Amino acid sequence: MITTEIKNKLIEIVGVSYVFTDDETLNEYGRDHTEDLVFPPSIIVKPASTQEVSAVMKVAFEYAIPVVPIGARTGLSGGILAIHKGIGLSLERLNQIIKIDEQNLQVITQPGVITEVLQNAVAEKGLMYPVDPSSKGSCFIGGNIAENAGGARAVKYGVTKDYVLNLEVVLPNGEIIWTGANTLKNSTGYNLTQLMVGSEGTLGVVTKIVLKLIPAVQHNVLLWVPFFKMEQAAAAVSAIFRAGIVPSALEFMERDAILWTSKFVEVPDVYLKHENEAHLLIEVDGNYPNVLMSEAEKILSVVEAYEIDEVLFADTTDQKNTLWKLRRNIAEAVKQNTVYKEEDTVVPRFELPKLLIGIKAIGDKYGFKSICYGHAGDGNLHVNIVKLDMSDELWQTEVPKGVNEIFQLTKSLNGTISGEHGIGLVQKEFMPIMFSDIELNLMYQIKQIFDPKNIMNPGKIFPSTYQ
Ligand code: LAC
Ligand code: ZN
Repeated sequence: MITTEIKNKLIEIVGVSYVFTDDETLNEYGRDHTEDLVFPPSIIVKPASTQEVSAVMKVAFEYAIPVVPIGARTGLSGGILAIHKGIGLSLERLNQIIKIDEQNLQVITQPGVITEVLQNAVAEKGLMYPVDPSSKGSCFIGGNIAENAGGARAVKYGVTKDYVLNLEVVLPNGEIIWTGANTLKNSTGYNLTQLMVGSEGTLGVVTKIVLKLIPAVQHNVLLWVPFFKMEQAAAAVSAIFRAGIVPSALEFMERDAILWTSKFVEVPDVYLKHENEAHLLIEVDGNYPNVLMSEAEKILSVVEAYEIDEVLFADTTDQKNTLWKLRRNIAEAVKQNTVYKEEDTVVPRFELPKLLIGIKAIGDKYGFKSICYGHAGDGNLHVNIVKLDMSDELWQTEVPKGVNEIFQLTKSLNGTISGEHGIGLVQKEFMPIMFSDIELNLMYQIKQIFDPKNIMNPGKIFPSTYQ
């Protein structure tokens, strides 16, 4: 599909050192963190500027070649998998923070900047970019925009979309646009900025990003609360908000998530006692320690109404880091242990206990075990269905039925099937659970307006009946 003529045109644009067709590179760029899936593109191209991205897209458009924008490959829904081959367009060389605007509390950045690098750079100016995915040490800000990433602090500070003010985008035909303005408010026309956020590389290539920042927050308090019954841990979540507290993180972890992760990251098992089915990791933050202490006490009085074990107040940086390390490494720990499937269900938070109990019952019905954890304060539960010693046959026949039922349950609780990982490849066949034909057609028509030749990350988001 990529002829010598096309390859030479791409080399002319980005230089011969930035075009790759060797198997090793293709395989490396053909996988992300989604299960064990590998779909290599036909060629990898690494442009260094918006102009080069535009020139690559013009070639792709002319020859109708599929293009997959590729970030740091930490995605969990298979968004970057090149299922139709074509050009893998790596944004890793667009890795500059262009400007930190201390007057307006904004940052202008290229997409290939690692999220934590961006956070640290603005922190040096006393500012904060609070969106905090578990993979922040390796994921790119561009990928966060593609998937509308969330993370642990979304419960108080919101997700990626809440910080994106304006985007430079290269359209599938190579034209370059800006979607909005660098303003905190904007009622000017359709909101193209938010249309791009979470569009999973299917509408265009984001090449510059304007983000809102907030002043850095000085203090936090972290509580580790062990529950004897997991549904009580889930029930305590909404009770904390009803008591008037908005924590800066409210994470749920069932026992095995902690057990597996403490082995994986070699954390002493002091953080896990025998009969505790689940834990909540609760953080409050702010600038006034005495306020935080009274909020922490209020949280204690809420959780004490449930059957809990001894609460740990993490007051040293070491303790806090250890607890966060435990939490952030769950996905990796599960991956190290077994073949698994990751679901990203989200419901209004009061419904969380029903979702959790329902998932466990569905697992029993179809014979699979799940490890549940996630951003409970957002009602966002990551469900890792683990294969362990389940037979290949049951894995292939029963698990999809179970997933379908989990998603039906999620919908019946007024939830949806992805909170922060996106639909990508692995959830696309489930889209009809959430949307009618009318709704899906409307979305698909939007894609067609942006991408009339269907070259922009084709085969994602929409069920296969659409391609
Ligand atoms: C997390 C990722 C998997 O919450 O979203 O750790
Ligand atoms: Zn998450």
